[in-house]
Amino acid sequence: WAASAHNHESFLHCLSHHSPNTSSISKIIYTPTNPSYSSVLNFSIHNLRFTSPKTPKPHIIVTPFLVSQIQASIICAKKTGFQIRTRSGGHDYEGLSYVSDVSFVVVDLINLRSISVDAENNVAWVQSGATIGELYYRIAEKSKTLGFPAGVCPTVGVGGHFSGGGYGLMLRKFGLAADNVIDAYFIDVNGKLHDRKSMGEDVFWAIRGGGGASFGIVLAWKIKLLPVPSIVTVFTITRTLEQNATDLIHRWQYVSSKQDDKLFIRIILTGINTTNSQHGNKRTIEAAFNSLFLGKIEELVPIMEKTFPELGLTKEDCIEMSWIESVLYFAGFSRGQPLNVLLDRRPLTPKRFFKAKSDYVNEPIPKAGLEGIWELFDEEEAEAAVLILSPYGGIMDKISESEIPFPHRAGNLYKIQHLVYWDEEGEDIAKRHINWIRKLYSYMAPFVSKNPRAAYINYRDLDIGTNEKNGRNTSYNEASVWGVKYFKGNFKRLVSVKTKVDPSNFFKNEQSIPSLKPWW
Ligand code: FDA
Repeated sequence: WAASAHNHESFLHCLSHHSPNTSSISKIIYTPTNPSYSSVLNFSIHNLRFTSPKTPKPHIIVTPFLVSQIQASIICAKKTGFQIRTRSGGHDYEGLSYVSDVSFVVVDLINLRSISVDAENNVAWVQSGATIGELYYRIAEKSKTLGFPAGVCPTVGVGGHFSGGGYGLMLRKFGLAADNVIDAYFIDVNGKLHDRKSMGEDVFWAIRGGGGASFGIVLAWKIKLLPVPSIVTVFTITRTLEQNATDLIHRWQYVSSKQDDKLFIRIILTGINTTNSQHGNKRTIEAAFNSLFLGKIEELVPIMEKTFPELGLTKEDCIEMSWIESVLYFAGFSRGQPLNVLLDRRPLTPKRFFKAKSDYVNEPIPKAGLEGIWELFDEEEAEAAVLILSPYGGIMDKISESEIPFPHRAGNLYKIQHLVYWDEEGEDIAKRHINWIRKLYSYMAPFVSKNPRAAYINYRDLDIGTNEKNGRNTSYNEASVWGVKYFKGNFKRLVSVKTKVDPSNFFKNEQSIPSLKPWW
């Protein structure tokens, strides 16, 4: 500790030395003795698994207001032997933006969240510390007919989300957030600020889906805004097993990725308890068919009658609204809430403990396969488990696997996000829930993608493989274990970009792209 206390002071000293305005430094530094340290650290933690006293904590949190303060943080961390973890929204499922086993500094971009929307030219600049809710709000402030295809939960941070891909209900029409980035500001390992031109096409390619944390710190993104109709339609139809859910889900697998690309119907599966006079209390599965259509009810209903009549959608099931109102709808806000709820960085529901995994499905799962999942949902640990099935197809089939590092394109019918939540503290409880989701994951193996068993980096899962611990360098082969699952054939190019832009492997974490040093 004595050694790190010394580093600590050297870091602060270095930061003042590199900052033109020394008095402002004290406003952006939080050390464990600062009364606000815990609240600053915990504010952006979204998974309670990483709030326990045993979780390693940063020696210093820096919350820059200026680019020069990020640049100084990089230079000084390097000089004084600290690792950097960059945090934008803090939603990383495994806490990689604020937890590390070695001495580390968190560079928290919460104060760098400006957004400027140019509705005439259909573009916007957004800083990484903004949330996607803030972005949607600022777009809607300027235009009712422009939108952006990013995630569903408004508190997700732009920095991690865009750099890992980022998808939501307009995925089939417009692709990922990262597909619609046209420029960026990026700070490299030497503290140098670049735009697209000066970082070069390799780095610009890598930060759009390869996970930003391996390469440097992305300060801001220039994005294309996309046309949305002034009226869109939403619906949510729920069915239990007793109401034919298995047949409907089975059928959905054949139609959802072939639909009109303006239509996105996902399925949210949960276990619920029902009561009826005949059978008393009974556990069942509820499938919520939750949908956005980029058009009006009168256009949607005939499409559904033709392509998915089994669901029995009627116009009474549908609600027309503006695109920004649909953002609130899918985020779980009740109707009529003011749009500025999107500016609130606090989550709508209380934070919980959770573990998640992801899978891609290339062939429909047979009904018997689905029924095996329902059995696992009967177990006690699955009380708050959720599976979210998101259809692919549409533009996702047309973008090449190597266009950006995110490789999951043609050939995927849908993606599954497996989630298990719990609310009580304790290692035993956590272990039981994590074991349950691992069991589900093993059960799913025959039904999902193979060689590799593909995964989505933004649903970070350290079970699929990690780098060497304690800062040791990881070889290409070792890192391929997890890297090929996230990036398929793009992993190789990511390693070559990393080797060029950060040869000494300064920016590293449990799943960062390794650098192949020239002497290896
Ligand atoms: P966080 O700050 O934790 O960063 C995540 C990773 O990116 C870390 O490795 C971090 O170091 C790195 N990083 C962050 N900012 C960086 C920067 N500026 N430069 C370089 N590296 C940076 N996903 C999705 O596609 N669609 C969805 O609808 C949702 N919904 C959703 C809801 C909820 C409640 C959660 C918790 C998560 C999601 N996600 C999601 C997943 C989400 O996209 C993923 O966790 C993102 O990485 C979160 O980005 P943050 O900036 O919030 O995370």
